Amino acid sequence: MAQKKEPLELSEDGLISPEVGAWAEDKHRLVALYASLFSSGMKDKWDNRVYVELYAGAGYARIRESGRLIAGSPLHALLVKDPFDKYVFCEEKPDKLSALKVRVARHAPSAAAAYVEGKCDLKVHEISAEIPQGMTGNTVLSLCFVDPFDIGIKFETIRRLAEGRYVDFLITLALGMDANRNYEHYIREDRLKIDDFLGANDWRQRWAAAQWDAVKFTRFLADEFTKSMATLGYIPPQFYTMKEVRYENLRLYRLALFSRNERAYKFWSEVSKYSTDQRFLFD
Ligand SMILES: C[S@@+](CC[C@H](N)C(=O)[O-])C[C@H]1O[C@@H](n2cnc3c(N)ncnc32)[C@H](O)[C@@H]1O
Repeated sequence: MAQKKEPLELSEDGLISPEVGAWAEDKHRLVALYASLFSSGMKDKWDNRVYVELYAGAGYARIRESGRLIAGSPLHALLVKDPFDKYVFCEEKPDKLSALKVRVARHAPSAAAAYVEGKCDLKVHEISAEIPQGMTGNTVLSLCFVDPFDIGIKFETIRRLAEGRYVDFLITLALGMDANRNYEHYIREDRLKIDDFLGANDWRQRWAAAQWDAVKFTRFLADEFTKSMATLGYIPPQFYTMKEVRYENLRLYRLALFSRNERAYKFWSEVSKYSTDQRFLFD
């Protein structure tokens, strides 16, 4: 079960540490706990466990309100009790990726880590090439964390990563933070952001119908994204399992798990339970 983690000693290193809201720590708590359950739970069942992060960041971040330095999600995933056999980090910004490399070397020097610089949607071939191909006698299970600021992930990227591989996806669905806020902009016929996000161009008709049933746009998008994932064989998660991260009264995003295996959803429900009941475990 969940381990009590020693707080990570971070000190200023002069490298980039992007500012984040205090809620980023809630997200990290959930990702850290899931990565920990996944890596320990799958250790004896798979020959290789790979952690992939498509929007990796700089490795450290700074809480906007307090100025406090915190570890980013890559470090949380690297410091689990039973580390993954390989880590693959993609980050668009060169200065952030360089900072991440230095910090990974500092905190997890023995980790097998690969780095891909650039937009994940354009670099999906390079990212895929870093994930070992599974075969009989050398099986591979991956956990891919997808953490964009907005709903900018293209479904095609997910499809290509999931093709011919066992991959679970933990995805930040920026439904409140982005989709709701930019609603008027995104629903225009000439805007393709939601088409790309869902991998579908016929959602507008369904949205028109859903409005008659007073469905909220955020809920509609979550359901549509779930349907897109189901086309790849992912078991549709219930909406309530998409963990909402809020800041004060603002609904920012939902962290959603997608897997082809029921066992993953059991881990995820433990995460939900522990993150609400026993926050101290990760403080
Ligand atoms: C929300 S931050 C991720 C932070 C990290 N997951 C964490 O919690 O510590 C999103 C990151 O994705 C990067 N980014 C934005 N668009 C990207 C893209 N298309 N491909 C890869 N990285 C991207 C940004 O530079 C930023 O560092």
